[in-house]
Amino acid sequence: MSDDPLPPSSPTPAPGRPAVRTAAVIPAAGRGVRLGPGAPKALRALGGTPMLVHAVRAMAESRAVSLVVVVAPPDGAGEVKSLLDTHALPGGSWGNTDVLVVPGGESRQESVKLGLDALPEGYDIVLVHDAARPLVPVDTVDAVVEAVRDGAPAVVPALPLADTVKQVEPAATPGEPEPVVATPDRSRLRAVQTPQGFDRATLVRAHATVTDDVTDDASMVEQLGLTVVTVPGHEEAFKVTRPLDLVLAEAVLARRRLNDGF
Ligand code: CTP
Ligand code: MG
Repeated sequence: MSDDPLPPSSPTPAPGRPAVRTAAVIPAAGRGVRLGPGAPKALRALGGTPMLVHAVRAMAESRAVSLVVVVAPPDGAGEVKSLLDTHALPGGSWGNTDVLVVPGGESRQESVKLGLDALPEGYDIVLVHDAARPLVPVDTVDAVVEAVRDGAPAVVPALPLADTVKQVEPAATPGEPEPVVATPDRSRLRAVQTPQGFDRATLVRAHATVTDDVTDDASMVEQLGLTVVTVPGHEEAFKVTRPLDLVLAEAVLARRRLNDGF
């Protein structure tokens, strides 16, 4: 057996060569305030199955992902662990993917950091995937992993925008008219999704260095001065944020069931 490291661009390792191992961190510790009262968002049902279970399955479905670290609500790690045990395959497995559960923090950023801290050695690529994007197709996951394997330190799935976006001077009182300051050229804007993929060392450095509040992990890597690249996102990777998104998610699941039936 050769000791040569696997070239990062190899999609399938040659027999006997070590693969670049990939783990996914799933921040699932949010309350889901915008979804309205109820259980933490990640634990709410979609098609009768908790959103988090869909998200774990979506990661485990990728042959590249061999470990999923679920970041649970701070006081709910035990509950999440038994919930996941209930939904695992017979024998308690998720195919070839291991699942770990750790408690999260006050902000998404803190939760991701706690997930990264729990990541064992031996995983050189890390995906960060919102539990709130339960329906991401496996092809999107694989495209992100492949772009990191090809050498990008940070990769985000992205889609063009349907709406024109205005920059405003935010009003002091919500609902008051707000002056428009600028209209960015829509053709140069993208809406980004998850999973976002990273060279592990880069993401760890970003989380150790950047202390500003951010809404995604890739922007922390941008702050390090590194180039983040996009790959095509998918409309089914939308984030469940407000009640109407649940209606859309149920419709997507119904369409999948119908397509699987034929
Ligand atoms: N998240 C987390 N820890 C937090 C806050 C958010 O792990 N302290 C996770 C959420 O569980 C979710 C993802 O980050 O999977 C994206 O966040 P968002 O969609 O904003 O979810 P919530 O914060 O739960 O929703 P809201 O902002 O409406 O309360
Ligand atoms: Mg939030």
